[in-house]
Amino acid sequence: MSRLVVEGGTVVTASGSAPADVLVDGEKVAALLAPGGASASSDLVRLDARGKLVVPGGIDVHTHMEMPFGGTYSADTFSTGTRAAAHGGTTTIVDFAIQPRSGSAREGLDTWMARAEGHCAIDFGFHMILSDVNEPVLKEMPGLVAEGVTSFKLFMAYPGVFYSDDGKILTAMQAAADAGALVMMHAENGIAIDVLVAQALAAGKGEPRMHGETRPSVLEGEATHRAIVLAGVANCPLYIVHLSAKEALEEVAAARDAGRQVFAETCPQYLFLDASLMAGPDMEGAKYVCSPPIRAAEHHEALWRGLGTDDLSVVSTDHCPFCMKDQKELGRGDFSKIPNGLPGVEHRMDLVYQGVVENRISLARFVELTSTAPARLFGLYPKKGSLLPGADADLVVYDPARRHTLSVEAHHMSVDYSAYEGMEVTGAVETVISRGEVVVEHGAFTGREGRGQFVKRSPFMGVDVPAPGRDGRAQAGSEEAGS
Ligand code: URP
Ligand code: ZN
Ligand code: ZN
Repeated sequence: MSRLVVEGGTVVTASGSAPADVLVDGEKVAALLAPGGASASSDLVRLDARGKLVVPGGIDVHTHMEMPFGGTYSADTFSTGTRAAAHGGTTTIVDFAIQPRSGSAREGLDTWMARAEGHCAIDFGFHMILSDVNEPVLKEMPGLVAEGVTSFKLFMAYPGVFYSDDGKILTAMQAAADAGALVMMHAENGIAIDVLVAQALAAGKGEPRMHGETRPSVLEGEATHRAIVLAGVANCPLYIVHLSAKEALEEVAAARDAGRQVFAETCPQYLFLDASLMAGPDMEGAKYVCSPPIRAAEHHEALWRGLGTDDLSVVSTDHCPFCMKDQKELGRGDFSKIPNGLPGVEHRMDLVYQGVVENRISLARFVELTSTAPARLFGLYPKKGSLLPGADADLVVYDPARRHTLSVEAHHMSVDYSAYEGMEVTGAVETVISRGEVVVEHGAFTGREGRGQFVKRSPFMGVDVPAPGRDGRAQAGSEEAGS
């Protein structure tokens, strides 16, 4: 079994950073050593990390590879998407299997497992989307949890597709709480949104920018409030996905201040992309159509603050790419037919790192948001998201100084545009190690399709929610900020 030492770097974990060497034995972290502490043994592969950061591999808990949506499929397969993820420093994804309407969750899991197994370049897990809440599917929950599918996504949006009404949500939350699962919520008031969409189309307003105008942020705030109330009635832990609006963040913050097991993620598109992009000429705006929609800059500021205060616990991508050609084009003249979703799995680490560069979050918080917190919330910790001895040796050697430009020419995602075209970032992935194997080295993919393994996740165990007063919460601008 091969042994490897990553030496000379600054090791960063969610609790701080220090110069250290990481000794890897086979697939596992064997030890963190004082610099230069590894033996001179000739069977030890040595990886030079001088001047670099060494961080736990990224964990993206919200991706959609090969997802059916609006009559087409998201453009990345598990093969291309996980390869792109690896290039971006992500070593584990948790994707979404979908219960077919009038079908079982088992059918959904089998379908998605067949798509992913033997194709992923990095490790993968699944949440389950419940698109048809009924007695039989609720009975399936404990079995799925035992198999490592320990989180279930429900939708307050997309009536007629994934939507569940409040009664179905409540019963699903009760069953999830009993099964030890976490409920993930797409919180937008889809019934009200559909009225606004129909009115816009009847008025002849079919251009992409209307996607945003018909999904106002207050309808995200309202749905988030309702989801939190229902989770309280069911005594069920709740995780709000792809939170984009300050109104929704206020609801999450209030619940957390009350000591509730309520968590939320945001995504880079809600931190960096402005709603005005949806008003671009011709079909340009379709590039940015996702739900919830990208918002005005005042929301970006609120979200960055939420990342600092831990009201937002995770940054995931909601990677759901559709090509402009033949896919986003489906909504020409009718924005409601534009497939919803943005590409991003490759850029998450770099984009969140800009928060360190701009002194908004500390280095430790960067690791927490991109790896440790998602691992803890989704039953992967300490196997993933940590560098503790015995953890999976998922590591990224990150160059904090290298500048590069995000572009369709440079990315590895299987999509014909970049949502961040031309954006210059500071910080770049240099080497990626997945379970002890170097899968990316200086920009070249050295892994192989199919090496990624299914990760069986633990039931939701509860995570400390800081008490009111927020003492001890991670703060932007702490002593490590920008270090
Ligand atoms: O626009 C989005 N978010 N597409 C993916 C599906 C979802 O709701 O997460
Ligand atoms: Zn969603
Ligand atoms: Zn999603």
